[in-house]
Amino acid sequence: MAKIDLKTIKNKAGKEIKKSQTLKELDRVFKRYLGKKGDLSWILRSLNKMPKTKRIKMGKKANQLKEFLEEAIAKKSGEIRKKTKKSSEGREWFDITIPGKKPVSGHLHPLTQAKKKAEEIFQSMGFSIAEGPELESEWYNFDALNFPSEHPAREMQDTLFIKQKNRERLPSTAKLLMRTHTSPVQVRYIKENQPPLRIIIPGRVFRHEATDVSHEINFYHVEGLMVDKKISVANFKAIIKEFLKRFFEKELKIRLRPSYFPFTEPSFEIDFSCPMCRGKGCSICKKRGWLEIMGAGMVHPNVFKNAGLNPKNWQGFAFGVGLDRLTMMKYKISDIRLFYGGDLRFLIQF
Ligand code: PHE
Repeated sequence: MAKIDLKTIKNKAGKEIKKSQTLKELDRVFKRYLGKKGDLSWILRSLNKMPKTKRIKMGKKANQLKEFLEEAIAKKSGEIRKKTKKSSEGREWFDITIPGKKPVSGHLHPLTQAKKKAEEIFQSMGFSIAEGPELESEWYNFDALNFPSEHPAREMQDTLFIKQKNRERLPSTAKLLMRTHTSPVQVRYIKENQPPLRIIIPGRVFRHEATDVSHEINFYHVEGLMVDKKISVANFKAIIKEFLKRFFEKELKIRLRPSYFPFTEPSFEIDFSCPMCRGKGCSICKKRGWLEIMGAGMVHPNVFKNAGLNPKNWQGFAFGVGLDRLTMMKYKISDIRLFYGGDLRFLIQF
């Protein structure tokens, strides 16, 4: 009986070992025959209940079978390990010569890029960068810049006034508004710094405006100011030409047209030859070949006075250029509102 049992165990276990594909399956086979409750273990344990002669005979055979099965399992286990190692190596293999995936990273807004570029160009020509508050007093925004108190020019700029208690009774130095241009910083700066001076004032400005493709309620200006003993329109022209050339990375013609600003005299409007069609006439410049880009002029004597300088001793030019406009020209952007819409499909292109 026991003899048959050993044979059966040998056959069954042998087949099962052979069939095993994984270490887990093999472990189950081991437990079934050689584990604590395994069939062969049971036989080995029951040996001491047998008569001596039978015990010696059976014991020998059972132990041989045990050794045999242990060896077979060890051998199979080695084979399985070898196989899985090979296939997992296959799965993990990778080509180290393939270029890595570039992580997606953000970048600066096109207006910030343009502002940086403008700063870089002017700095290389000896200009420093100044700043002023966006919430400004009516005095700095208008009075100090020689706007007469009831002058329609104040309305011309579509100002966003701040609601204040008893506003009418406040002095203009206490009346608040969102600055309509960066020109108030001219006065603020001259008050604090003795000329000669060369500055640009990049910054955000605000106007009470109905928005459309070329108008926004807030946009950016780059103000320029140069003050010295002898400064002329010729200096202005040379500097602005150089700036435009470097900003647009091509030579552009400019022209000055007489204009009016209360804080400059004489005043002019600057046009440049359309960078799209190089002055030939296209839809961007409305077939004129020229584009209006900035206001400028020689600093008005009253502005010097309001800033505490004697206008007899100093001369200077000032200009204010729309950064949005310049950037739109540079990248052929047709709608100013795209800058402020936060649409990544637009922003991602710069
Ligand atoms: N501040 C003017 C504007 O907002 C531009 C300007 C600046 C004109 C400096 C003359 C001198 O349009």
